[in-house]
Formats: sequence, structure tokens, C-alpha cells
Amino acid sequence: MPTGIPRVLAFLHPLIALATIALIYHVATLGLRSRQRRGEDARPVHRRRAPWALAMTWLSAASGVAATWLWRQDLELASGWHFWIGLGVVALLSTGAALSRQVPENQTARRIHPALGLLALLLAALQVFFGMPLLPF
Ligand code: HEM
Ligand code: HEM
Repeated sequence: MPTGIPRVLAFLHPLIALATIALIYHVATLGLRSRQRRGEDARPVHRRRAPWALAMTWLSAASGVAATWLWRQDLELASGWHFWIGLGVVALLSTGAALSRQVPENQTARRIHPALGLLALLLAALQVFFGMPLLPF
């Protein structure tokens, strides 16, 4: 278990990740709202903010690996569910983002894009439970 400054720094990743989950939730709400009647105004806001949620997800995963490598000699890198679920969140959201350009003209993309996003959000929320036991308390 790290002590002193490394221990404080090890809390950076959980904080970044919690902010990320909140942002994915916010962006998902905008996307879904944009489909409701009189919700069209939410669509351009979703389109603008969603890339930030994707970037933050990548940052969360990178900061998790960096923190484990730099400050958590008590943990083994790339082992355990938290790592693999984290990778799953990144993969799902990135695939959803890649599909998003086809959303306006392709029915399949229009159906799959939100499903991938919601699955990513669900797994990201699960990360709270798989991440808690790793916290350096
Ligand atoms: C978007 C959500 C998240 C992603 C993508 C993510 C990803 C990762 C990854 C890839 C690692 C490296 C694990 C390894 O190499 O075995 C890691 C470590 C870790 N994660 Fe997460 N994580 C997320 C959310 C959270 C949350 C919400 C918490 C806290 C409740 C948390 C706590 C930790 C801790 C404590 C570590 C060890 C490194 C450190 O002490 O900072 N993670 N995470
Ligand atoms: C977080 C989970 C996400 C959910 C639940 C979600 C949901 C949605 C929904 C329901 C739509 C409207 C589809 C329609 O009826 O036309 C949409 C459109 C779109 N989404 Fe997402 N989305 C998510 C994440 C993302 C991400 C990560 C990106 C890109 C980085 C993105 C980019 C777009 C774009 C460009 C559109 C098309 C907007 C337009 O036609 O003007 N979304 N999304």
C-alpha cells in the first residue's frame, strides 16, 4: 500500500473516473432526450458534448493504468475485473462514437449507437463497485 504523496496521487484516477461517469450519464440523457417529441434541441448539444465524454473515458482508463504502474506496487497491472471492464467501457463507447456519423442516414446505426452507449454507461457504473476494493485506504 502506498504512503505519503503517492497515496494521495493514487486517488486522482478514481476522481477523474467519477467525473467521467457523471459526464457519460449527462451525454446519454441528452442523446435519449433528443429522440423525444420536442427534444430536438438536445441533439446538437449531445453531438457537441459526447466527444468530451469519450475523451474523458480514455483519460480514465489511461490514468488507471498509469496510477497502478507508478504508485500501486501492491497491485498487479492488467489483472482483475476492473481492468477488463474498463477496457470494455472504452471499446463500447469508441465503437458507438465511430458509428455516430452514420446515425442520421442509417437505421441500423441509429438503433445500435444508443445501445452501445447505454451498455458502456452501465459497465462504467459497475466500475464503482469493482474499483472500491482497490482504493488505497
Ligand atoms: C470509467 C470508469 C473507469 C475506468 C475506465 C477505469 C479503469 C481503470 C484501469 C484500466 C485501471 C488499471 C487496472 C489494472 O491495471 O489492473 C484502474 C485502476 C484503478 N481504479 Fe479504475 N476505472 C474506472 C472507474 C473507477 C472508479 C469509479 C473507482 C473508484 C471507486 C476506481 C478505482 C480504481 C483504483 C483504486 C485503481 C488502482 C489505481 C489507483 O490506485 O489509482 N476506478 N482503473
Ligand atoms: C453515452 C451514451 C450515448 C447515448 C445513449 C447516445 C444516444 C444517442 C441518440 C438517442 C441519438 C439520436 C439518434 C436519432 O434518433 O437520430 C444520438 C445521436 C448522435 N450521437 Fe449519441 N449517444 C451516446 C454517446 C455518443 C458518443 C460517445 C458520441 C460521439 C463521440 C455520440 C455522437 C452522436 C452523434 C454525432 C449523433 C447524431 C446527431 C445528429 O444526427 O445530429 N454519441 N445519440
